[in-house]
Amino acid sequence: MAKIAILGYGTVGSGVAEVFWTNEKLIDERAGEEIRIKYVLDLRDFPGDRVEAVLTHDFSDIVNDPEVTVVAEVMGGMKPAYDFTKQCLMAGKSVCTSNKELVAAKGPELMRIAREHHVNYLYEASCGGGIPIIRAMNESLNADDLSEISGILNGTTNYILTEMTENGTDFGDALKRAQELGYAERNPEADVEGYDAQRKIAILSSIAYGKTVYYEDIHTEGISGVTPTDIEYAKKLKMKIRLLASSFREKGKYYAMVAPVLVEHTHPLYSVDGVFNAIFVKGNMLGDAMFYGSGAGKLPTASAVAADMIQAVKAGDTVLYSNWKEEEADLSPLDSSSRRFFVRVPVEKKEEAIRVFGMDAEQVNLEERPEETALITGIMTEQEFEQKAAKLGGILGRIRINM
Ligand code: NDP
Ligand code: HSE
Repeated sequence: MAKIAILGYGTVGSGVAEVFWTNEKLIDERAGEEIRIKYVLDLRDFPGDRVEAVLTHDFSDIVNDPEVTVVAEVMGGMKPAYDFTKQCLMAGKSVCTSNKELVAAKGPELMRIAREHHVNYLYEASCGGGIPIIRAMNESLNADDLSEISGILNGTTNYILTEMTENGTDFGDALKRAQELGYAERNPEADVEGYDAQRKIAILSSIAYGKTVYYEDIHTEGISGVTPTDIEYAKKLKMKIRLLASSFREKGKYYAMVAPVLVEHTHPLYSVDGVFNAIFVKGNMLGDAMFYGSGAGKLPTASAVAADMIQAVKAGDTVLYSNWKEEEADLSPLDSSSRRFFVRVPVEKKEEAIRVFGMDAEQVNLEERPEETALITGIMTEQEFEQKAAKLGGILGRIRINM
């Protein structure tokens, strides 16, 4: 029998316990042995909850118990998660996590410590909630040279943008609902300002390219600047605004970005709504593949953590392969990457804007906003766009167009 422990009985942690309790028989069969939760660590008490039988407030109960071989770290944040994870790995326990903040910041170090102690540090739930993307990249796509990975990686912002688009919901109300549904980070600024997606694309890129992509180096913009007017323009254009996280490799250089983009109605990301996430991967043999599913929430995320724990139990002291290496991937600035831009300007600047952005810029107007006009530029580099926008001055907003 394998004994496991869960650090944190919040949204994800309570989900992990529920997965093991609900699917106990099936999991035992698939694992080839019984797996039982011996401890759940949390700061709080949970009167009347089944967890009471295994609840502890003392981490040393877990780390000092040789019977516990696999631990889920689902507390989140850096402190004390980083220290607890290291202690567990050094005590010869595999650790499985949904904590992308910790994985993005310390993943290579924690994987090295795990290897040195013949255990595993697994993090399937850190990206895309319940979507099996990490294992797919480390195992199923192992024969391919991956050159691009992109997609919708944050459920909260996708939920907010969908609510604003479909139901005209106010930004703040949509965020509040996402928090109630358990999708948002403890500090939802991480979702809204794109930092969560930034960490996820750093993790996925590190696996895809086999080098460490540091999240701090990724150009990141969130959705706090997206207005109901932008959404009205998007509707008129038969497009949707989505927070896209993307990275690609070209001629040995790496590029990565997180930003809101306009997605055309013919693009597969157009129909990714609500808490759903979608991830595209491009391989030199595979071509394109897309992974789709629930990007956040208690049980989808818990399902991924629990599957990692089962894999860790089965692996025992075998260290599982990971494509992510410690060598740094040198990210290039975005300046030279090209795309079209949607740009809003005051109506009195219309003629000048057309001169500056080029006669091929397409015009869009909203009847209810006669005081402004919007243009869709031709394809230009980020640097060209910034220079033109600075020359024109006074632009009301701009959104990249996904190509
Ligand atoms: P919650 O805040 O709901 O849960 C965290 C739990 O850990 C809380 O019960 C908290 O207790 C407890 N905890 C915090 N610090 C300690 C400590 N020192 N000792 C014991 N218990 C502690 O967060 P989530 O479950 O939503 O998220 C957990 C992790 O999973 C985060 O890294 C998050 O980014 C990630 N994640 C979340 C998803 C989601 O949909 N929610 C999806 C994918 C990943 P208390 O409340 O008393 O502080
Ligand atoms: N806050 C995150 C999201 C949780 O909304 O995507 C899943 O990682």
